[in-house]
This record gives sequence, structure tokens and C-alpha cells, in this order.
Amino acid sequence: MALNLGSKLRELERKTEKAIRGGGEQAIAKQKAMGKLPARERINYLVDEGSFYEYDLFIEHDAREFGMDGKELPGDGVVIGTGKINGRPVAIFAQDFTVAGGSLGLMHARKITKIMDYALRMRIPLIGINDSGGARIQEGVNSLAGYGEIFFRNTLASGVIPQISVILGPCAGGAVYSPALTDFVFMVDNISKMFITGPEVIKSVLGEEISMEELGGARVHNEITGNAHFFALSEEECFKQIKTLLSFVPSNNEQPQATVEVKEPKKQFNIEKVVPVDPTRPYDVRNVIRALADDSDFFEIQEKWAGNIVIGFGRLDGQTVGFVANQPLVLAGVLDCDSSDKAARFIRYCDAFNIPLITIEDMPGYLPGVDQEHAGVIRHGAKLLYAYSEATVPRITVILRKAYGGGYIAMNSRHLRADFVFAWPMAEIAVMGPQGAANIIFRKEIMEAPDPEAMRKQKVEEYKEKFANPYVAAAKGYIDSVISPKETRKFILQSLELSKTKTVGRPHKKHGIPPF
Ligand code: HXC
Repeated sequence: MALNLGSKLRELERKTEKAIRGGGEQAIAKQKAMGKLPARERINYLVDEGSFYEYDLFIEHDAREFGMDGKELPGDGVVIGTGKINGRPVAIFAQDFTVAGGSLGLMHARKITKIMDYALRMRIPLIGINDSGGARIQEGVNSLAGYGEIFFRNTLASGVIPQISVILGPCAGGAVYSPALTDFVFMVDNISKMFITGPEVIKSVLGEEISMEELGGARVHNEITGNAHFFALSEEECFKQIKTLLSFVPSNNEQPQATVEVKEPKKQFNIEKVVPVDPTRPYDVRNVIRALADDSDFFEIQEKWAGNIVIGFGRLDGQTVGFVANQPLVLAGVLDCDSSDKAARFIRYCDAFNIPLITIEDMPGYLPGVDQEHAGVIRHGAKLLYAYSEATVPRITVILRKAYGGGYIAMNSRHLRADFVFAWPMAEIAVMGPQGAANIIFRKEIMEAPDPEAMRKQKVEEYKEKFANPYVAAAKGYIDSVISPKETRKFILQSLELSKTKTVGRPHKKHGIPPF
């Protein structure tokens, strides 16, 4: 046969066609019937048109045991490559459930670690589309080794490049620990599942029947466990969320912030009207954020979990900032185990990627009760103190109404080295709320009074008069200015401008020991 380019190209075409057919038409049809897109379609949906370049298409496994000898697994069940999202390069892998359930064998793992190494070396975001039955059982310890290599790289890349995990299928066993080590986990209703041991194992070991959805569906991880950060109703919606997230974050921890065109907040969010002066009346703090952020654009993270604190990205003066805000709509905005975990991790993310932090404070302190104490509120609450204290990015706090007790300290107080702390005139900065405080410090007078109830009221009023205001803290310089609500954006913008050249020193150490 004559050697010519044409025949070589036809050979490449044949091999390529075979490799990209995945687990075959039947398997693909089964996935599509569940609302799932094939691996390459997922990638193409996510990246800019025509920007995807695939690598390691012709990888072959070399497992021999348990019927694996000679078994064809196209691409070994995973697609890797690079593409662009909104013009910015990203590295991607997408597991293909139609090939051996997307299970992770040695070569499958080598493909993933190769693209992880590219992402870290090129300092570009890594997106992992996970759809896998976990360690490939037939490959034994080689599969476990593969996971170990992935986990190590996830940890190495943490805080250097953004790592995004998309759960688009049943992810079991080792398949869930890599996502848990990454920065953001996206899940889709009815499609995504995450668990360490599946329903079959639970049934055989514990005799309990549970569906995959109830065990670890998208709602479970968005509402109960906090393992997920974003919830979508379809894969398409999920990909849009990923693109929005990437528009806010830099490609690595050394890239300067991109500036977008500045648009003033929308008029419908009137900051003076959003917050009731009466400290017992709730309101949605997201509307305060919208009244402050450019174009009133706020991209919330972990919206469905630990709703008593709100976290997410917005922009001020065209640059990304992270908002951390107590939410008076949920549990009066108290701090507890979950809200402390949620905020602490976000603060560390922002700090790692040089994103300034804006803290909006209105909370009555840490949630009292046996449940919280026994759930470890001391350890969880300490995470928040640690995360703020450690963060060196510009940090600005605005106290709207209540700032009581440990919560006052934890929510980016001057004492934890906030750069600027502002308070509104109705702010109450004290060790605790007037009711609780009066009951404790005036207990004797109240008990001995002819009319204890009248005396209690009088003492509560006395306490309010003396302490339930911002001026005691202002008199000591713990807050920088008492400002009118409508001046808030102006003060924050000016503080951010000043903070552009912020420089802080910290003692040399290998690393700290946060209360994990
Ligand atoms: C090898 C696997 C596999 C696995 C699925 N498959 N998981 N092959 N190793 N781990 C194969 C199936 O044999 C099947 O092959 C195909 O993928 C599709 O799987 P189905 O079971 O038909 O799909 P479905 O009914 O949708 O159920 C999906 C599933 C289930 C829930 C993920 O397959 C499952 O429970 N798998 C095992 C999950 C598990 O226990 N993993 C833990 C591994 S240990 P055919 O040829 O029939 O199409 C682990 C430890 C790592 O990960 C720890 C690190 C810290």
C-alpha cells in the first residue's frame, strides 16, 4: 500500500471516530433519557465555540484481571483538554459515565492528573465534570493510587488557581473527595448525586432502604450538608452559573483584578428604605448588598444552606469584592456552626485570590443552646475568628443595627484588624441585647422591686440609653465613623481606593493551625 498523507489522515479519522464514540449509542441514549448530556457535549456547552482542544484521546488501559483483558474502554472513560470561557483559558476534564460508569482506573486517573498539572503550571482555572462510580473495582489499588494523586494535586493547587467541581451524575466513593477539596461544587436537581457509600452498601450493611436522591441528591447537599455551593434545575443552567462565577474570580492568585465598566446601583434598591430602624423587624440583607454593589449585581454562593449568613460576589468601582452579611430574615441573623463554617471558608477563598471583603453586620451574637454547644459551636465559631484575623486583603465592615457579644468581634471587627469599620446611627454595639443584659446585671433590683416587671422595663430602657448605640464604641475609636445609611457606598468606595496599596506584615511561619 502506498504511503501517503491521505491514508494516514484516514487512519487518524477512523481511530478518532472510534475513540469518541464513548460507550456506544445505547449507553448514550440511556444517559440522555435522564437529562444528561454526553461528556464532550457538556464541554462544548461550557466553553467558547470552537475553543476546545482535547488531549490523550488514544489512551488505553492495561488492566488484565476480572474480564478487563482486551476490554475496550474508549478514552478510558474521561475526556481532558483546554478551552476558553469568555475568552479566558481553562483546563477541563469530564468523566464519561457511558464507559465503565466513568469509574477511575489508573490511566483514567493519569489523564485527570495530567490536565491538573497543566492547569497548575499555566495558572488557569480547573473545571472537573464528575460523573463516576468511583474507584474502578477491577483495577484494585491502582485506582486508589489514582485518587491519591488527584487529592494531592487538589491540595497543591488550592489557593493558587480556582478549582471548580461539577457533579453531573452519581458520584460515589473516591469520586466525591476530589470535589470536596475544590473551591466550588455545582449540582443539578435529579441528576447529581454524591455519597461515600451507595444505597446498595447501606442496605447490605445497615438493612436500610434509601434512594440515591434522598441519600445525596442536589437538594441534600445544597440544603443540608453544605457540601455544594450551587444548585441548578438543568445542566444548561449549571453551565451558565459556572460562567458567571468565573467572570468574578481571577484566573490565579497572582493575576491582578480585571476591571469592568462601573454601573451605579439600581434606584429600586433604596438603602434607607430596605432596613427598618426597629431592631426587632427583619429584612432581606441581600437588598442592602444590591443597594451597594455596582449595577445591583450580587452573585450569591450557598444560597440554600445556613441562610442566616449570606455570602457571594459583587463589584464595587468595577472590581470584584466578596460580601459577607448577616441575614436578619433567618434566625435573626445569629451566628452558629454552619454559618461560621460557610463564612470562614469564603473569607479564606477571597483572601487567597486577593478579593477585598465587605462585611455587613446585623446580628444578635452566637446562637445559644445545647444543640449548638454539642455540635461544636466553639470550634466552628472559632473558624470565623481565625479566617478574618488571618486575611490580609482590604477588609471593611458596616454595622447596620445589632452587633452583640462574640459576634461583634467575629464579624470583622477592628480588633481582628479590619481596615475600616463604619456604623449607622441606629447601630447597637454591646456585650449582649438590652433584655438579656438588664436581666443579668440588674437581677437583684428587679427581684426586690415592688413591681419587678416595671423595674425590668425601666432597667432595659436605662441599658438601651447607655449602651445600645454606636457612640460608646466610637468614643474608643473601635469604629471609624458613624455614617448615614445613604453615604455607605461612598465610604466603602473611598476605603477600597485607599486600600489598593495596603501592606501588612505577619510573623513568619510554615502555616497556622486553624480550628478545622
Ligand atoms: C467498575 C463500575 C463502577 C466501579 C459502576 N461501574 N461503578 N465499574 N468500578 N466503581 C460500571 C457498572 O458495572 C456498569 O457496567 C456501568 O458502570 C454502569 O453502572 P450501573 O450500576 O449500571 O449504573 P447505575 O444503575 O446508574 O448506578 C450507578 C452507581 C453504581 C450508583 C454509581 O454503579 C454503583 O453503586 N457503583 C459502585 C459505587 C461504589 O461503591 N464505588 C466505590 C468504589 S470504592 P456495565 O458493564 O454493566 O455497563 C472507592 C474508594 C476510594 O471509590 C476511596 C478514596 C478515598
